[in-house]
Amino acid sequence: MDTEPHPCWLPEHALAPVGRRAVVVLGTGAVVDTVRAEVDAAVRAHGGVLSEADGSGLPDLVLATVDGARDQPAGGPLAEPLRTAVSRYEEAPLVTEGFLVTRHGDTTVVLAGGGPGLLYGLHHLLRLGHRAFEDGPAEAGGLVTRQEPAQPIRMLDHWDNLAADSPMGPVERGYAGASIFYADGRVRADLSRVARYARLLGSLGINAVGLNNVNVHRREAELLTTHLPDVGRLAAVFRAHGIRVWLSVSYGSPVTLGGLDTADPMDPRVQQWWRDTAERVYSVVGDLGGFVVKADSEGQPGPFAYGRDHADGANLLGRALAPHGGTVFWRAFVYDHRQDWRDRSTDRARAAYDHFAPLDGRFDDNVVVQVKYGPIDFQVREPVSPVIAAMPRTRLAVELQVTQEYTGQQQHVCYLVPQWRELLGFRPWDDDRTVSDVAAGATGPAGGIAAVSNVGDDPFWTGHPLAQANLYGYGRLTWDPTLAAEDVLDEWIGLTFGDDPELRRGLHEIMDGSWLTYERYTSPLGIGFMVKPNHHYGPDIDGYEYSPWGTYHFADRDGIGVDRTVATGTGYAGQYPEPWRSVYESVDTCPDELLLFFHHVPYGHVLHSGTTVVQHIYDTHAAGVEEVERMAARWAELADRLPPDVAERGTGRLAEQLRSAREWRDQVSTYFFRKSGVPDARGRTFY
Ligand code: GCU
Repeated sequence: MDTEPHPCWLPEHALAPVGRRAVVVLGTGAVVDTVRAEVDAAVRAHGGVLSEADGSGLPDLVLATVDGARDQPAGGPLAEPLRTAVSRYEEAPLVTEGFLVTRHGDTTVVLAGGGPGLLYGLHHLLRLGHRAFEDGPAEAGGLVTRQEPAQPIRMLDHWDNLAADSPMGPVERGYAGASIFYADGRVRADLSRVARYARLLGSLGINAVGLNNVNVHRREAELLTTHLPDVGRLAAVFRAHGIRVWLSVSYGSPVTLGGLDTADPMDPRVQQWWRDTAERVYSVVGDLGGFVVKADSEGQPGPFAYGRDHADGANLLGRALAPHGGTVFWRAFVYDHRQDWRDRSTDRARAAYDHFAPLDGRFDDNVVVQVKYGPIDFQVREPVSPVIAAMPRTRLAVELQVTQEYTGQQQHVCYLVPQWRELLGFRPWDDDRTVSDVAAGATGPAGGIAAVSNVGDDPFWTGHPLAQANLYGYGRLTWDPTLAAEDVLDEWIGLTFGDDPELRRGLHEIMDGSWLTYERYTSPLGIGFMVKPNHHYGPDIDGYEYSPWGTYHFADRDGIGVDRTVATGTGYAGQYPEPWRSVYESVDTCPDELLLFFHHVPYGHVLHSGTTVVQHIYDTHAAGVEEVERMAARWAELADRLPPDVAERGTGRLAEQLRSAREWRDQVSTYFFRKSGVPDARGRTFY
């Protein structure tokens, strides 16, 4: 790659807290080597020293895997600190991705279950900065912290297309330039940018990466064949950072690649084809994570064509991968995208539950069902998918969207961590168990969390420089879903821009509430969509109203919303367990922000907030635009404190956000004024 891309949250200054110290690294393996190289670069830049264990005196910092610590001679200078750290470990052994930190006088010890844990421990210290080496526990060898990831699999999917002439461009729903993996129809020869990316992801604890689009076109399928050695090159880059790679495969591959006349999961030839394919793939990439599959969805082939269900389809692939330790991520995003808009009985929101909930208990152990967080499609506001509470005997992964398809396409500032925090913290039952707990295995076997990445070969990686915070925050929440969104942002600001209190304050003012701001000036009260068809950017209130996609708002002269009640509507509310089934069913208890998702109400319906639906639409759209005006003004005040390239890029994007927000406000407010004939109580005029 020609130019040096933006360092994101790992600029040189962020390495200083470790780089200024005397450090010892103990352990072996590819990821430990990465830790050693990271420390080496840090000490060279900042004047510290990376020494051998037999060096004189005690270092400031020891980074050791438990095996590395146990290999140390009994009498060496590190013996005492290591012995006490190991005894802490033995009290409750850590997974290989976990680490603990102890303090012995001036020496800090990070002890990890394995190489990945050591990498995560190092970055834990970097996030804390110099604080990491101050104030220890009272007792020598006392524990400072002990951490393990909340989720076993923390995945980023890439909707990158191998084919140079792919109809959806190099990255489907990509808003940051071309693919960092592929160019000219092949895996890039120079993977240095991928290595930088793997380093960034490894620093967050991401441990799984999907390498290609879930819509698998003919050329993409060749990743399983012609391009397999190149997949091996990509896997090697990620492996050094504790990350395994996954391939999206087409369910129809036995036909398209194998020349068979069927992909029926019960056909022994099909089963053999997948076994052979897995064998071949694993002979090149021995630690491939497995396959990601979008089947019977938006035109992708699937088991329905053979009268089979999705457990049959998923287990077919699972059984081919099982001998190699691979896992299938099978997506639950299955619905009828050729619906007749005149048919009011079909409800797209119901589809994933209707297809998958009855299959609970039928999926093999190495199959994870990947469920989008909401029942429709990554909208700014949706209820949590009822599938998440309906499959206790199935490994479930929750899918989020870091790429801002429906949230401003990285033209708009929209810090999504508050949304994810809310979704992951949602309690589907009348008890303490959260969505994150379900994914982590509290109610059944563990799945994990997956999300669609937002990066491309843009110099800032993400188009809008502030969209880097979403990638950062995604990684942090998959590690610990209880982190506060503001704290995650605070970490990101400090690592990325250094410690300038005024800049920190200003960026919080711009970003903390930007998700809710985006919601205010776009679609109201959980109704969703109203975007321009195909590319999904900007307002088009009726853009999908008379289309086959199943995303309707049903606005008429009297009211708006989708009746999804059991009593009079599509019955979707009945897919939730109590208390939510009842909460959503009643217009009196349904939360305002989801009202139009569950109910069709008159424009004069009074919300819990005290305003009518139509007045709410007028008010929030006006308020949203005012908030963007303040964001842009605040950015202008901060410009001198930001690197000039960041300031300039952000200024251009905020101007576009403001233009677009005004367009949204004017179209949505005018539309509902025309439909309802209700004037604005505050006397605003519409068009
Ligand atoms: C959305 C998106 C598509 C994508 C699909 C999916 O519908 O617009 O581009 O393929 O989600 O998640 O599979």
